[in-house]
Amino acid sequence: MSQSGATKAVGILISGRGSNMRALVQAAQAADFPARIAVVIANKAEAEGLDYARAQGIATAVIPSKGKSREVFDGELDAALRQHGVEIVCLAGFMRLLTAGFVESWRGRLLNIHPSLLPAFRGTQVHERVIESGARFTGCTVHFVVPEMDEGPIILQAAIAVPDDATPDTLAELVLTEEHRLYPLALRLLAEGRLRVEGNRVRHADGN
Ligand code: GRF
Repeated sequence: MSQSGATKAVGILISGRGSNMRALVQAAQAADFPARIAVVIANKAEAEGLDYARAQGIATAVIPSKGKSREVFDGELDAALRQHGVEIVCLAGFMRLLTAGFVESWRGRLLNIHPSLLPAFRGTQVHERVIESGARFTGCTVHFVVPEMDEGPIILQAAIAVPDDATPDTLAELVLTEEHRLYPLALRLLAEGRLRVEGNRVRHADGN
């Protein structure tokens, strides 16, 4: 799997910090990783993660989303991904809803990471809501993207206990550590062709 011809080209979409993007980039630097990061695209020029990607010598693009219809933005995004030969798209803190048309055209090749144990706590302000709910466990989920936000077949989850003294910030940090471990694992499984979607369930098959 280390020959570049055998690796899948990945596009990562970010809107901000990009720590999950960084985890994917670092994982892809391993000789046996079955995917390579072809491009990092941000919908905001000020996304902090862009600097890291550039410093790693990865192609980057900024496609501003502000003031554009979803259809126009998604068309530009799709064109940029295809221009870079992208085969798999990873959303990594990408704060923009995608059109059903875009999602359908990337179905089965479009992943997202969410900082809760889906289907619980979809949306934003997740850690605040977890703490307020009194839940004893939380975690993160990597799933295939479907048009509905934070839905779609679940690939991997990691659970952690919610500490009694957790604050939204400390909980975010604990969950983020798991996110950085989980996202590269999920990308590896997809790139190796080990995932089969049956309805809403994902089967993990032997790769070849
Ligand atoms: C992560 O918690 C991710 O699960 C959520 O947004 C956050 C992005 O963080 N979708 P980063 O930009 O990857 O550091």
